[in-house]
Amino acid sequence: MSIVEDPLLCGFRAAMRRLASSVAIVAARGEAGPVGIAATSITSLTMDPPSILVCVNRASSLHACLAIDAPLSINLLSRDQVEVSAAFGGGVQNPQRFEVGLWGNGEYRLPMLKDAQANLCCVVDRLVEYGTHTIVIAQVESVACCNAVNPLIYQDGVYL
Ligand SMILES: Cc1cc2nc3c(=O)[nH]c(=O)nc-3n(C[C@H](O)[C@H](O)[C@H](O)COP(=O)(O)O)c2cc1C
Repeated sequence: MSIVEDPLLCGFRAAMRRLASSVAIVAARGEAGPVGIAATSITSLTMDPPSILVCVNRASSLHACLAIDAPLSINLLSRDQVEVSAAFGGGVQNPQRFEVGLWGNGEYRLPMLKDAQANLCCVVDRLVEYGTHTIVIAQVESVACCNAVNPLIYQDGVYL
């Protein structure tokens, strides 16, 4: 049954369009170069241990980089980084996506986005498959924040 015909899926999609979320780039150092995707499914999980959750589509290029103990960077976008989100959301392919925005290398040679709201260096602790996605639980090893709090928000299919 298609989403158009199914009232539950129609309602679910409409409800999720009303869920405002910060946009992040989740990135890894793949065998053939850097790999990253735009993601809004980021949640702060616990302070003890400092950990974060992200849901990654199993069809996405980043999925091949997911393994226990694999390093990941999570780069929370600033409001003026819409172009970065558009590129990593599918507008540009990996690894050319990393030509959009200013990228440097962090610990584990992880791609780190300059001028992001925050850069988190993480290591994957758990992977839980659910439907089309894998829920990734990662422990946070280090954090860098910029001064101004000005996150890029995605809501109802547009950036605020
Ligand atoms: C604002 C925004 C939020 C997204 N959130 C997620 C997400 O949380 N998880 C996910 O797997 N894909 C998410 N996507 C889709 C991926 O970024 C997109 O499918 C990505 O380009 C896949 O990369 P690939 O073509 O290299 O596989 C989001 C896209 C956008 C534009």
